Amino acid sequence: MEKTLNKDIDETLQGTPTMVKTETYAGKKLYLESYGCQMNFSDSEIVASILTKNGYQTTNELNEADVVLLNTCAIRDKAEQTVRNRLKHIQSNKKNNPNLVVGVLGCMAERLKSQLLEEEKLVDLIAGPDAYRTLPDLISDIDDGRKAVNVLLSREETYADIAPVRLDQNGISAFISIMRGCDNMCSFCVVPFTRGRERSRDPKTIIEEAKSLLDQGYKEVTLLGQNVDSYRWNITKKGEIINKDEEPVSFARLMEMVALVSPDLRIRFSTSHPKDLTEDVAQVMAKYENICNYIHLPVQSGNSEILDKMNRGYTRDWYLNRMEMIRSIVPDVGMSTDVIAGFCDETEEQHQETLSLMEIVKYDFAYMFKYSERPKTLAERKFEDNVPEEVKKRRLQEIIDLQMKHSLESNQKDLGKTFKVLVEGESKKSQDQLFGRNSQNKVIVFPKEKYKKGEYVNVEVLNCTAATLIGKAINYA
Ligand code: SAH
Ligand code: SF4
Ligand code: F3S
Repeated sequence: MEKTLNKDIDETLQGTPTMVKTETYAGKKLYLESYGCQMNFSDSEIVASILTKNGYQTTNELNEADVVLLNTCAIRDKAEQTVRNRLKHIQSNKKNNPNLVVGVLGCMAERLKSQLLEEEKLVDLIAGPDAYRTLPDLISDIDDGRKAVNVLLSREETYADIAPVRLDQNGISAFISIMRGCDNMCSFCVVPFTRGRERSRDPKTIIEEAKSLLDQGYKEVTLLGQNVDSYRWNITKKGEIINKDEEPVSFARLMEMVALVSPDLRIRFSTSHPKDLTEDVAQVMAKYENICNYIHLPVQSGNSEILDKMNRGYTRDWYLNRMEMIRSIVPDVGMSTDVIAGFCDETEEQHQETLSLMEIVKYDFAYMFKYSERPKTLAERKFEDNVPEEVKKRRLQEIIDLQMKHSLESNQKDLGKTFKVLVEGESKKSQDQLFGRNSQNKVIVFPKEKYKKGEYVNVEVLNCTAATLIGKAINYA
């Protein structure tokens, strides 16, 4: 995915059809669309794997599908509206093909459960994030005339043994899911309800997946989890080793193990949580050239009282201290964040503290949102969603404007510098231009010349916008 600029964030919630070549042999055709975060995109690859093993073929043509599955997001109300609109559009296909199976997967399925069947009359199937192994059975239930629902959450499911069918188009950069669920209870967040308890995946299967991706020509993997810093294998939360004959694996150790698969394989990770981020993670980043110098560390607010209400487990000072720790160990680190504007009771002064924190950190990039109240969350039960819509909107705009300024300044600082760039493909705007990313996760566009997708190239930065660096290749890196 090419990075979109901050204010376009809601566009990243648009569904991206899976562009998989349609085979012509007989069998049911599956059309999959993913919304929301990288975890969902990664889960769709598990779903594609489970269903293709059962004889389905993926297609990128909605019109020829026998089964349409939308892997949905529930993080903000707007994300759910996008899916409802899409379901309405799909209804017209159902008129042409009465046997069409329409299913809702993912977080919205988990949040609304069978209620969705009543609300969206043409949905036949509901499956939550831990129920994908049962999809073939659920679909055959429908063929037998029943509506199919499985929203059971699991404490163990990690899909560790399932080799995902890669649905990305570039063949260069892939996701590896290392854990599922979330045990934090941020008061605004629906994820603990939609994805269940946190569990880590066996590191051996993670390394095998990284090796297999490398063999297939991939050059970059992103280790995914809602809170990667609490990844833990063979060791309890209290630090007791479970099996003495095996090595305990922390997130820092896991990153090191993946980094050692090959110096040619780049490693990224998402998402870190400030309260769990430890120094050894920064040290491993500094030690291995192929672990990218980039960290996404969501702050949410720059005011300690709001952070407390959000139940984030850190204060403004603690967060700033973590940022300093990372910069002291990895001096050229790229940094990005998530910010929520207009959380319950947020005053003008508290909002100003978010802006002032941004001034101190000067993020390279940020995802910025208006607070959207989510049913059943702690905030919904305890606090009033009392910041008026226009105020939320104005505060968000101030945050976006400041971030745009910082993004531009950050890019301007890179003028004249040369970066090692992994080429991800042709630029969307021109076939004569390639695009890739540097270690800090900045997108760089440069003339194609002799260079190709998948190569590491040294690129000198000659120009920039707030969103993109523009340069010229110097040689192979
Ligand atoms: N696990 C990650 C984030 C998951 S959700 C973390 O802990 O940081 C991605 C982002 O969506 C969050 O960081 C937050 O900024 C935003 N978000 C979550 N719930 C929201 C809500 N109810 N309203 C607005 N933004 C929200
Ligand atoms: Fe949501 Fe907080 Fe968990 Fe992130 S850490 S997924 S914001 S509850
Ligand atoms: Fe959305 Fe679920 Fe991800 S709510 S952000 S798809 S974990």
